[in-house]
Amino acid sequence: MRVVVDSIIGCGHCFFCQSEQYALCDNTNPKPELTDKLYGYPTAGIYGYSHAFGGFAGSHATYVRVPFADTNAFEVPEGLPDERVVFASDALPTGYMGADLCNIQRGDVVAVWGCGGVGQMAILSAYLLGAERVIAIDRFPERLAMARDRAGAEILDYEQVDVREALREMTGGRGPDACIDCVGMEAHGTGIDYAYDRVKQAVRLETDRPTVLRQAILACRKGGTVSIMGVYGGFVDKFPMGAAMNKGLTLKMGPQHGQRYIPRLLEHIRKGELDPSYLITHRARLADGQEAYDTFKEKRDGCMRVVFTPEA
Ligand SMILES: NC(=O)c1ccc[n+]([C@@H]2O[C@H](COP(=O)([O-])OP(=O)(O)OC[C@H]3O[C@@H](n4cnc5c(N)ncnc54)[C@H](O)[C@@H]3O)[C@@H](O)[C@H]2O)c1
Repeated sequence: MRVVVDSIIGCGHCFFCQSEQYALCDNTNPKPELTDKLYGYPTAGIYGYSHAFGGFAGSHATYVRVPFADTNAFEVPEGLPDERVVFASDALPTGYMGADLCNIQRGDVVAVWGCGGVGQMAILSAYLLGAERVIAIDRFPERLAMARDRAGAEILDYEQVDVREALREMTGGRGPDACIDCVGMEAHGTGIDYAYDRVKQAVRLETDRPTVLRQAILACRKGGTVSIMGVYGGFVDKFPMGAAMNKGLTLKMGPQHGQRYIPRLLEHIRKGELDPSYLITHRARLADGQEAYDTFKEKRDGCMRVVFTPEA
C-alpha cells in the first residue's frame, strides 16, 4: 500500500483533532514548553521543522516513522503515480486551505501573493472552489509564467508595478474579494516599509517582515477576507489594524489541517481535476541532498520543488 502522510502531526483524539483542527493538536509536540510560552498554548508537532514544534526529523529519508499513522497516513488510490500525489502532504493542502478559508463565492476575484509551491496550489484551489479570476503576485519570471500557464492566473510582478494600484485597476476600483498570503515572514519588497522592516529585523526589534500582510490588508476590498498561509513566527510591526477593522475584513489563518483535506484532494487528483506534479522542476538522489537543498533554497535554475528518490 502507498500512503501520503501529512506534514503536521495530529493524534486524532484530542479536542482539536476531533474538530478537524489537526495542526492545533494537544498531544503531538513533545517539546511544548517553547510554544506554550511564546503563543500561550502549544501547537502540534511538525516534521522537519524547529524544536519549538517537536524537533521531529524531516521526511527526506529512506524510512520514516509515522506517529499516529491511522490519523496521519492516507492511502493513495491505485494507478496514481507518486509524482501526482506527493504534494498532497503539504503544499497542496496548505494552498487549498488558504482558498477554503476565503469562503469563495461564484464570480469572486482572488489575489494570491507568492507563486511558490503553496501559492501555485492556492491558485488552482481558488478556481476549484469557484473563483472567476485569480491574480497572482511574485517577482520571479519563471514562477509567474508557471502561475499563468499551468494554474491559469493573471499575473503581476511586484517589482514592476504598484501592486495595490494594479489590483484596484484590475477589479474595477473595488479590490479583490479575497487575498491569500502565501509568502509569510520572509517577504521581499521594494518600498520604504521593506527597508524599515530589514533594519528593524537586523537590530532585532522585529522578528518577521509583514510586507505582504500589510499589502493584502490594504488591497482587499471592503468586507473581504484575508487568508494567511505564509508562516509568521513571532512579532510584526506597523500592522494596519485600523484598515482591517474599519474595512470590516475577515482575517483567517493557520497551519494547515491537511488531514481534513487530503481525502478530497486525492479524489480531485484521481478524477483529473487537479495535477500538482508540475511543481517538480528537479529530481535528485537522496545522496545528492545537500546540493539539491542549496539549489532549492537559493531558487537557482528555476527550482520550485525537488523530488528525491533513494536510488535515482
Ligand atoms: N500554513 C502552513 O501550514 C504552511 C505549510 C507549508 C508552507 N507554509 C508557508 O507558506 C509560505 C510559502 O511556501 P512556499 O513553499 O511556496 O515558499 P517559496 O519560498 O517557494 O515561495 C514564496 C514566494 O513568495 C514570493 N515573494 C516574496 N516576497 C513577495 C512579495 N512581496 N509579494 C509577492 N510575492 C513575494 C517569493 O518570490 C517566492 O516565489 C512559506 O511561508 C511557508 O513557510 C505554510
